[in-house]
Amino acid sequence: MGKPIILTGDRPTGKLHVGHYVGSVKNRVLLQNENKYDMFIFLADQQALTDNAKNPEKIIESVGEVALDYLAVGLDPKKATIFLQSQIPELAELTVYYMNLVSVARLQRNPTVKTEIAQKGFGESIPTGFLVYPISQAADITAFKANLVPAGSDQKPMIEQTREIVRSFNHTYKTDVLVEPEGLFPENEAAGRLPGLDGNAKMSKSLNNGIYLADDPDTLKKKIMSMYTDPNHIRVEDPGQIEGNMVFHYLDVFGKKEDKAEIERMKEQYQKGGLGDVKTKRFLLDIMERELAPIRNRRLEFAKDMGEVYRMLEKGSEKAREKAAQTLSEVKSAMGINYFNKL
Ligand code: TRP
Repeated sequence: MGKPIILTGDRPTGKLHVGHYVGSVKNRVLLQNENKYDMFIFLADQQALTDNAKNPEKIIESVGEVALDYLAVGLDPKKATIFLQSQIPELAELTVYYMNLVSVARLQRNPTVKTEIAQKGFGESIPTGFLVYPISQAADITAFKANLVPAGSDQKPMIEQTREIVRSFNHTYKTDVLVEPEGLFPENEAAGRLPGLDGNAKMSKSLNNGIYLADDPDTLKKKIMSMYTDPNHIRVEDPGQIEGNMVFHYLDVFGKKEDKAEIERMKEQYQKGGLGDVKTKRFLLDIMERELAPIRNRRLEFAKDMGEVYRMLEKGSEKAREKAAQTLSEVKSAMGINYFNKL
C-alpha cells in the first residue's frame, strides 16, 4: 500500500494573505513534514480564468506570486509535487467525460457556485466554464486519486460533488478506478476564516483589508496600528470590548501557547479599563512579526531568481502530468474508448 494521497490548491487571483496562511497553507506545511502522505499542491489557474477570461494578466502575474508564497512558507518541491493546472491537459480531458454524468441543474444547486454567481453579478451571463468548474475540480482531485483534500469549509460542496461523480463514474462503467476523496476542514473555525483588519468577515484584496505574506515590516506595522478595535474605547481608562475587536481576535489566532497567559491578562485589563489600544497593537505586532519575518525573508531570497521558481513549477507539472495521464488512460479503458490499446 502506498501512502495516502493529499491534493489541494488555490486559485491564483492575488498574493496569499495571512488568512490563507492560518486557514490552510500553514497546515499543509505540517502535513508535508509529517512524511506520511504523497502530496500534490497546485495553482488552479485554469479555474481562476473561468471568471477572469477578460483580464488574464491578474491570474498570470499571481501564478509567480503564489508560487513564491508557497516556497516562502516552507512548501518544498522535494517533499511535495507543486504544479500548475493549465499545464496538465489531461485534467481538461477528464472534465469532458465527467460532464456527461452531471446535470446542469445539479451544478446550479451547488451552494458555493450559487453564492459566487450572486457575488460576481453575472446576471444572465454566467460563463459556461464557471458553471462547470466543480466538474473540473473533480477532475483535479480524481486525476491524482486523492484520498484527502484539505480545504476551507466553502469547499465542502465541491468535495461532495466530486464524491458523487466518482460514484456515478464507477457505477456506470463498472469499475473502481476513481477514488472517493474526503475533505479535511479546519478544526479551528476562528482561524478557518480570518476577518479583515477592518472587522469585515472576509479578508480580500478588493476590500483592501488584508495583511500579505509579502508585506514589509513597515506595511505590517501600519496595518496593525490601523486595525479595528472597539470604537467606544476612547480613553485608556475606559472599559473596552474584546468581542469584535480585531486585535484580540488576531491575538487568539496568532498567539502561541507561551503567549496565552499574557493574552488572557490583557483581555481582563482591557475589559476593566486601563489598557490602551496602542499597547495591545504593539504586542500583536511583535507576535505577528515573529511569525512572518522568516517567511518574508525567504520570499525575498526566492524572488531573486524567478526563473528558478518557474522551473520548479515546470518540473512539478511534468511529474503531476505523468500521474494524471495514467489515471486518464485507466478512465478511457474503463469507458471502452481505448481503441488502439485493443489492437
Ligand atoms: N476551488 C478552490 C479555491 O477556490 C481551488 C481548487 C481548485 C481546489 N481545484 C481544487 C482545491 C482541488 C482543492 C482541490 O480555492
